[in-house]
Amino acid sequence: MYNFVFKNPVKILFGKGEIANMRQELPEKAKIMLTYGGGSIFKNGVYDQVKAATEGLNLIEFGGIEPNPKFETLMKAVDICKAEKVDYLLSVGGGSVLDGTKFIAAAVLFEGNDPWDILAKSSSCPVTKALPIGAVLTLPATGSEMNGNAVISKIETNEKLAFGSPAVMPQFSVLDPEVIFSLPERQVANGVVDAFVHVMEQYLTFPVNSPLQDRFAESILKTLVEEGPKVLANRTDYEAAANFMWSATMALNGMIAVGVPQDWATHMIGHELTAFHGIDHAQTLAIVLPGIMHIRRKEKEAKLLQYGERVWGIAEGTPDERIDKTIRATIRFFESVGIKTTLPEYGVPGESITKITNRFAERGFKIGEKADIGPEEIKLILENRL
Ligand code: NZQ
Ligand code: ZN
Repeated sequence: MYNFVFKNPVKILFGKGEIANMRQELPEKAKIMLTYGGGSIFKNGVYDQVKAATEGLNLIEFGGIEPNPKFETLMKAVDICKAEKVDYLLSVGGGSVLDGTKFIAAAVLFEGNDPWDILAKSSSCPVTKALPIGAVLTLPATGSEMNGNAVISKIETNEKLAFGSPAVMPQFSVLDPEVIFSLPERQVANGVVDAFVHVMEQYLTFPVNSPLQDRFAESILKTLVEEGPKVLANRTDYEAAANFMWSATMALNGMIAVGVPQDWATHMIGHELTAFHGIDHAQTLAIVLPGIMHIRRKEKEAKLLQYGERVWGIAEGTPDERIDKTIRATIRFFESVGIKTTLPEYGVPGESITKITNRFAERGFKIGEKADIGPEEIKLILENRL
């Protein structure tokens, strides 16, 4: 196992009715901006619950944060925060609203010339200060509610980039599984697949003798496989909703990442598919992951065999046969929740692959747990399937 430092200070308020209990987490004297998305919170009662819990506080609202939140939209909120002297942000929505809020929190205190550098120069100039954030999560998927990451898109350049900083970890996140009751099927499926692939990014690499992290990871995968279909079949199954919601949070709150190598190539390639074609984040992951498993079958062999056996019960045959069956089982699972897994099914033309590989060539660095996936490998990953 590798050395690690681990700190996760996010306070979680989990369960039915917990939105009402967030008042004690909010500063009484702050000027708060409530951020939200396209309006789902008005239809499912979440807005009313938040308003009741924040009654009497000094609150302004900023709505319209899109799925795959846009830099251009978020900068409008940054201007308002500065003009209105906002000093606390309350995100009410899914991962996009929360990621967007994290960007706003960092951009309000950003001292450089171009706030896009928060994303573009995230590794050389990491964010060190941000406005404090509280969150009410309405969609289990990203893990954003308990991590310091955010992914932001820029319309002008068709870019989708990430940044991460402990400064933007929420001070608290409310996770009430009843918010799931109003989720459309597509968003439940997206959430299940996104959380599943988050685990895979931190697990499907190479062994470093970390049996505890491995078993944590496998337990999250198996729980998603069991509970995801229950949520899809019956949106008001509270127990299934609760198990799904906590699985998605645990999938990306740093706990299974400690002391182990991490991949993230599926996400980095997937972000380009969203940037160029607007494909939902989770759908891009379902397209890319099977290609990575196939093309990196030698490099990932030990973990592929372990994953196949422990998650899907595949233990018969030669290693290659077992890996083939394991990839097929993964594809079948994605398809079973209603997520298509090939580029043609999303209408993506072949030339897009070149646009994507060119982007990685321009960036000049390789991705994956061994930093050995470059443009040529990405082409194979996107073209090759079992
Ligand atoms: O905008 P509203 O009207 O709220 O509707 C949203 C949106 O249309 C709707 N929705 C959310 N909660 C709902 C609901 N509809 C009914 N009932 C509810 N309770 O769902 C739609 C999608 O929402 P969005 O926030 O975009 O989904 P998700 O949570 O999957 O977030 C995706 C974004 O997170 C990024 C992705 O790249 C993408 O931009 N990611 C963030 C990560 C992180 N911060 O750690 C990691 C992930 O890998 C991911 O990259
Ligand atoms: Zn993701």
